[in-house]
Amino acid sequence: MRIHAAKSLKGIVRVPGDKSISHRALMLSALASGTSTITGLSHGEDVQATKQIVEQLGAATEVFEGQLRVIGPDQGLRASERELYCGNSGTTMRLLAGLLGGVSGRHVLTGDESLSRRPMNRVATPLRQMGLNIEGTGENTLAPLTIVSPASLQAISYVVPIVSSQVKSAILLAALFASGPSRVTESIRTRRHTEEMLQAAGILITITDSAEGRTIEIQPGRPMAHEWDIPADPSQAAFFVVLGIIHPEANIEIPHVYFAPERVGYLDVLRRMGADIDIDERNELADITVSSSVLRATSIHANEIPSVDEVPVLVVAACAAHGNTRFEAMGELRVKESDRFAQSIALARALGSTVTVSGDDFEVEGLGSAINFRSFSFAAELDHRMVMASAVAGIAGAGAELDDISTVASSYPGFFSDVDALK
Ligand code: S3P
Repeated sequence: MRIHAAKSLKGIVRVPGDKSISHRALMLSALASGTSTITGLSHGEDVQATKQIVEQLGAATEVFEGQLRVIGPDQGLRASERELYCGNSGTTMRLLAGLLGGVSGRHVLTGDESLSRRPMNRVATPLRQMGLNIEGTGENTLAPLTIVSPASLQAISYVVPIVSSQVKSAILLAALFASGPSRVTESIRTRRHTEEMLQAAGILITITDSAEGRTIEIQPGRPMAHEWDIPADPSQAAFFVVLGIIHPEANIEIPHVYFAPERVGYLDVLRRMGADIDIDERNELADITVSSSVLRATSIHANEIPSVDEVPVLVVAACAAHGNTRFEAMGELRVKESDRFAQSIALARALGSTVTVSGDDFEVEGLGSAINFRSFSFAAELDHRMVMASAVAGIAGAGAELDDISTVASSYPGFFSDVDALK
């Protein structure tokens, strides 16, 4: 697909409902007995995969007046004879591995080519300690996964050895079915949706924050049906934030964005770089307005952006800045939907920037402005965020030729039409 540079970009973009909250709303609603409602569900393919799977496990869904109703079976979910296809979605596969701890029987989880290369041992290790039998390929426990759930699970006390909300969440979901209270500790706080949403659904949870970390104690129990209202996705907003900042003729507003520290570290980074960002925040919801800015280089540590989802587009911002920006401890980028470590560096180089790499760190030379970006070609592989990050660079800079953009639909099917509406 040919991406054209835009002359100017002005207007309001309503980005989709938050993907992380959408997955969890579907899963908790399916676990509950009775009718839950979900407003603002993400319409991306990843969340559709989760919806399809909870239906296979026995939950009923129907669309009613723009909301989704999910009816959890009174007797609980039951194993499906067919494979559970998670598509491109790591969140679906990893959270589901925990949830299936409470669905006795045998389950087979499959995914696309990208997901089948991603490590599942990070969830398999603690879940096996709880009594689940999980088989995959090789020492990284690659999909397809075969999971056999016992009649009851053991409680666990687990310190998550990496920074990962998906691991924390898989354990919390399995802990609902354990024989006693469980405890999960993380050394860097990651997105808090699972613990907060379980609490909202009536599960007894204690959350204790310490320094940069968090410990969650959870009692077993069944979530209650709930009305979920899902705000706009801050990780999708990030593409329009960077686009509006680096494009020389832009003013973009993104309303109703979920706003909590574990999700919006990228805004602090961009402000530090000198970006013109206005944030009108109330009760964890923000209207964000950005306009064309002159950026200076900074240093970014992965802990500022747990999950590192916004790093590829921050690399594009770094290319537009004055000076060299350092990205530190970015190893987790390598195990996302593609090797985003290699891909982000390849994108910066394609724009004309020099990049130096040392272990898990890299440094990106700023070109001073998106005006100085080269027109480039890029293959985003099966990675929606690489599609959008490279598109942002092409639209703000000198255009681009993108190899395959279809994966954008896994999180943001309307991305390109939302960009066009700003032109
Ligand atoms: C997610 C957690 C993050 C993130 C992903 C969504 C979640 O992954 O990259 O897009 O919903 O829990 P990690 O847990 O691997 O950091």
